[in-house]
Formats: sequence, C-alpha cells, structure tokens
Amino acid sequence: MKKNRTTLFNVPVGQLTEEQAPSELSELAETIARHDRLYYGKDQPEITDAEYDALRRRNNAIEARFPHLILPDSPSRRVGTEPAAGFRKMRHAIPMTSLENALTLDQMRKFLDGVRNFILELHNPDVSIELVGEPKIDGLSCSLRYEKGLLVLGLTRGNGIEGEDVTANVRTIKEIPRRLHGKGWPDVLEVRGEVYLSDEDFLRLNDQQELAGGKPFANPRNAAAGGLRQLDPDVTAHRPLRFFAYAWGEVSAPIAQTQWEARRKLKEWGFELNEPSGLVNVVDSDYTTLSGYYENIHNHRSSLGFSVDGVVMKVNRLVWQDRLGYDSRSPRWAIAWKFPPEQAMTVIRNIVVQIGRLGRATPVANLAPINVGGVLVSRATLHNQDEIERKDIREDDTVIIQRAGDVIPQVVEVVKDRRPVHSRPYLFPTHCPVCGSTLAREEDAAETYCTGGLVCQAQVKERLLHFVSRNAFDIEGLGEKNIGLFYEKGLIRTPVDIFTLEERDRHSDQPLSAWKGWGDTSAHNLFDAIRRARTISLDRFIYALGIRQVGEATARLLARHYLTRTNWCRSMEAAVDPDSEARKDLLSINGIGESMAEDIVSFFREPQNQEVLNKLYSPRDDSESLVTVRDFEPMTMASPVSGKTVVFTGRMETMSRSEAKAHAERSGANVASSVSRKTDYVVTGPGAGSKEKEARKLGLTILSEREWLDLIRKV
Ligand code: IVH
Repeated sequence: MKKNRTTLFNVPVGQLTEEQAPSELSELAETIARHDRLYYGKDQPEITDAEYDALRRRNNAIEARFPHLILPDSPSRRVGTEPAAGFRKMRHAIPMTSLENALTLDQMRKFLDGVRNFILELHNPDVSIELVGEPKIDGLSCSLRYEKGLLVLGLTRGNGIEGEDVTANVRTIKEIPRRLHGKGWPDVLEVRGEVYLSDEDFLRLNDQQELAGGKPFANPRNAAAGGLRQLDPDVTAHRPLRFFAYAWGEVSAPIAQTQWEARRKLKEWGFELNEPSGLVNVVDSDYTTLSGYYENIHNHRSSLGFSVDGVVMKVNRLVWQDRLGYDSRSPRWAIAWKFPPEQAMTVIRNIVVQIGRLGRATPVANLAPINVGGVLVSRATLHNQDEIERKDIREDDTVIIQRAGDVIPQVVEVVKDRRPVHSRPYLFPTHCPVCGSTLAREEDAAETYCTGGLVCQAQVKERLLHFVSRNAFDIEGLGEKNIGLFYEKGLIRTPVDIFTLEERDRHSDQPLSAWKGWGDTSAHNLFDAIRRARTISLDRFIYALGIRQVGEATARLLARHYLTRTNWCRSMEAAVDPDSEARKDLLSINGIGESMAEDIVSFFREPQNQEVLNKLYSPRDDSESLVTVRDFEPMTMASPVSGKTVVFTGRMETMSRSEAKAHAERSGANVASSVSRKTDYVVTGPGAGSKEKEARKLGLTILSEREWLDLIRKV
C-alpha cells in the first residue's frame, strides 16, 4: 500500500515516462475500483470525495497524455460497480425495527416508567417488572425464515421494511442451521439475530487482509457486513461469520410465554445465543439488579470474545411485549443500554464548513485518523460556532474525541498544553464555502445558515440526495457522484428532472450511453432504477420532500392521518392559513406541535415547492404522472374503526391511557388530542370534562370505554 502511494502521488503527471505510466494506470484502476466498491457497497467508505476525485483526475490526466495506454478496465470507461444492486429486495413479513437507546441509568428509569405507565397492572409499584438482559452485539441484523423446519429465506435488515435476499450467503454460515433441530417449532418461524465476527476471527481476517496487500477493516461490524453482502456465496463461505439468535418475526404459532423461555427454545432448535444473559427483577425503584447486570457485562466486555456495545433489556412476559407493541420507531418493550462513549486523542488537521440540505453550516474537523474503540475515525463534528468558541477549538490542536455507537464522533476538549505556539483562534467563515452567499445567524440561535437558498449548489445537491436516499425514493445508482455529475451538466436540478431524465435522454444527441465511462448497461440500469422508484408510499413521499423537522417518524404520523396524497396536499395548502380548520386538524395530531406545523406549512407557502409537487403528480400528455403516490396502508387488519378519528377523555378502567391510545392506533384509528368536527368518536370515562361538553355541542358520537372496546373487537 505504501509503495502505491509513492508512485501515485510523487511524480507530476507531466514528468511521468511512458515506461512508468502503465503500472501506475493499473494501480489507479485497481484503487479506484476498490473505492467504488467501498462507496457503493456503503460498508466501508475510506476516503473523502476530494481524495477520490483526485485519484480520478490523475487517472484521466495520465490517459490524456498516453491515450494508447488506456486500459480496457479503466475507471474512465465505467461508472461505479454496485454489488448491493445484485441482491433481490424483498419485503419483511413483519418490519425489522431498531431499538431506542439509553445512555444512563436515568434514561433506563424513564424507559421503565414508560412500561409501568402503559400496563395498568404495573401502576402498583409493588408489582415487579421482570426483564431479560442480553449483551448487545455489534454486527448486522438478519432475518431467517424457516418453513416446515427448512431454511427458505435470509434477509438483511435493509431499511427495516425491505431487506436484501442473502439466502445463498447465510446458507454458508455454519452456525445457521439449514434444518431446525429438535421438535415443537411452528411451521413458519422467522428467527432474527445478528451476523457477526468473533474478536479472534476479526483479527485473523485483518492480518490476512494486510498480507494480501489490502487495507484492514475498520471494525468487526464492517467486516461482517462486507462478508454477508458478497455477490459470490463462495466468498462469504470463506469469511468466518457467526450468528446469534435473539428475536423472531413471523411465527405461525406462539413459541413461548416469556423471552427467557423463547431463548431456550431457539437454543433447542439449533441456534447459538448471545450470552451471558440474565433475568433481572425491578421492584418499585430498586434498580440494583438491573445496574448489576449492566456493570457485569461492561466489566467483562473485552473477554466475551465478540464485540459488544451495550446491553439490551427486554420485558420478559410476551403478553406484555405484545400489549406494549411498537411506537413509530421501536418496541416499547425493549431498550438498548449503551456503554459510555470511547475516547481517544488526536490532532485536528483542519476545519471545514459543510452545508446541509436546509442550508445549515456545520463545522467539521478533519482529524489525523485514529482508532477509537475499534473504529477508525477521521472526522468529528464541531456542531456550531458557539461550540467552537466555548471549547476554543483551533486547527492543529490536539483534542480528545469520543464516539458513541454510530453517531458522528465529537470533540470533548482541547489538550491546551499541546497547542502549537503560533496557534490562532478559528475564524468562522462569513460566506458559504460553496456558493459564496452570506452565512447568517438568527438571533438567539446557535446555528448558522447559508442564505443562498436555491442558488447554493450544496443545498440543492443535498436536497436531491435526500430525495433519492434509502428511506425516501431509494434510487440506486443516484449516489453523491452521479447526482453531482448530472447537476453539473445541468441535467438534474430538481426532483422533477430525475423522472424526465430518460425521456430527455432519448431525444438527446449526446445520450448517456455514449458518455465516457457509461455504456448501454449502466444507462439502462439507471433508468430502470428510476422507473422502479416512480411508485412510492405516502409516508416515504412526505419524508423525501425534506421538510424541516419532518423525519421518518413525523412523515409516518402525517401519512397515517391524511391517508392519501391528495388529501394531504389539499389539507396542507389550506393549513397555510393559521386560523383554518385545516391548521387545527394538523395540530390535533399527537406529536405535531406549533413549530413543526409552521415548518410544514412554510414548505407549502413556497411557490417553487408547489411547482415541483404539481409537476411530479399532475397527469401528463400521455395521462401518466411522473410519480404515483400510494395511499397509506395501515399495518393493521381492517377494523370498524380504521381511518376513524377518536379522542379519549377522562380515566380508562381496564387499561392505561397510553395503552388505550396504542390499542386504538393498532386497530387503524387515528387518536387526536382535541375534539373537532372531524372527530368520529369521543370515548369518555370518569372525570371527563370540557372535551365531552364540546363533543355534545358538536353532536359527535360519544362512547363509554366498554362500548368502544366492543366496537374495536368487532373485526
Ligand atoms: S432485539 C425489535 N437484541 O441492535 C427489537 N437486538 O439498535 C429487535 N442487536 O437492530 C432487536 N444485540 O441489530 C436485539 N440482544 C439483542 C441485540 C440486538 C444487538 C442489534 C440489532 C438491532 C439493533 C438495535
């Protein structure tokens, strides 16, 4: 590797001889191909875009000097290879959610309070909550489907809704039984767990990797991910991948009554379990057994033999797990209690300012790369100008950085006595490094924004990237590089352009397939991916628009409330008026507050946004719109209350207020916090007050708790 670097960068292209050029071109081809794989595979990007571009520029410059030496597999002749594109995507029978994180005992207490509050029987503090503690393995989750005891499908988590079909690969993993052992398993059983590498195997793999001249993997997780997502199962077979089972998805019959018992069953059926697990009892406010389990795993972390980044605590009783269910992101019955962040010391090489899709200017420190708890870190976020000033962070400073889980590493403090003598405070730029517009700060706000809006390329590109990202339109082949390329050529400037690209290309005298580095196949693949993305669910569509404060969870709340694209857009346009019924309706959604509502309607106030929306879904000459937005499909059975809006007021007798709400939502109803003309049912209990009065005034249907439960059960 060292050798390559010297030949690659030391000789200016102008001085390179014809004898030297071939070996460098082939080294460049290899290096660039590798970074393409890392970039598109997303498992281990190693270099910045600027470094990548420098490699490509150098390759092109050498080729320009010696055109007769251009290699058949030259990077200039192809676009990035996409190993991930080779896997078939499939929907999970039951979504694979992730877990909420806690970092402190206090956050664990809040989690348990939530559980107590939800389950009415637990309102009595003398009733204990039994929890199962398991080590939290740092690998990648996978779902294995068994039918009549045979392994028929293996899916990666993907975006949680859809995963990649890696059946052939998981079949090569020795710890995954192809046929279930023992007896008593249900006909359909989806076993969920983690594919990972043991510490020992990880170190050995990295040694081999280095011996072969490759760069070591940054951590076991990346190595495992790379191993599982190989297009060639033979390659996977040669990676020492392992599997721990800790959960399940679809089952045709219940497998146990407790988590503890389910673990035992999984073991009987041939799976390895992540141990040491433990049963922990929490009575009232005595958390000693809980902390005891956590401390124990933390203390033995390095001798467990695999990489662990915390513990997972799960409510043991499965009926309670079932009743607790899920909020929009994660189960209410489990939580990941993460270990404290790991720290390390390194030097800041320089500080740059990055512009996000909403214009926010985030200062980022480029660091001398350093290993922090098994992960190679080369950048840290500095958050904002105030943070830099408060900590007095400067270029060339030696700093302590910390990394917690997957979040971007942060600078904890500056090691002042290592500061170079000529050091000067960092001056926050006054202008956008990309478009040159003024950077502005609102009064009382810490964030700085680029005022360039639509003229700022960085913002436009980031918005486009968000639009095509995995949890939005999910268009493979439109990554950072290609968005940049099409943007620069003026071919893609707004989301609308993405969907008209193929048609324009057909009439172009310079079609994509004739571009340098592209061919019929890559052009065809890209258009295919875009065509496939034209139908999208309402929640993803809303998320894709990139409205400030509207993340995935909020997008789902909105989709669930408005159900269809037409209804949503009309309602938002009407909600622009702050005194409208539509605004009241928007604010009645649980989880949408004033400031969020304001951001949403501001998006609709903007004529450019309206124009994009109209172009995306108005029928065109051939009466087909560019994008089809599917109505929201509640993940529930049809029930007499699905799509209806209900308001609870007063005390419930058989379940807690939170459970009543979750229960209603699971049956497809929308739960609102205030009564309006759009409310279908008002469920009242002892102590109901003004909401009930209002309901009577409006002549709404008023139900007792009993009547409501009877209605819901009529499925
Ligand atoms: S349970 C519905 N148990 O952590 C909950 N997850 O942040 C299913 N993980 O995506 C997950 N060890 O990849 C569970 N003992 C354990 C785990 C575990 C690691 C991973 C898993 C999950 C992520 C959540």
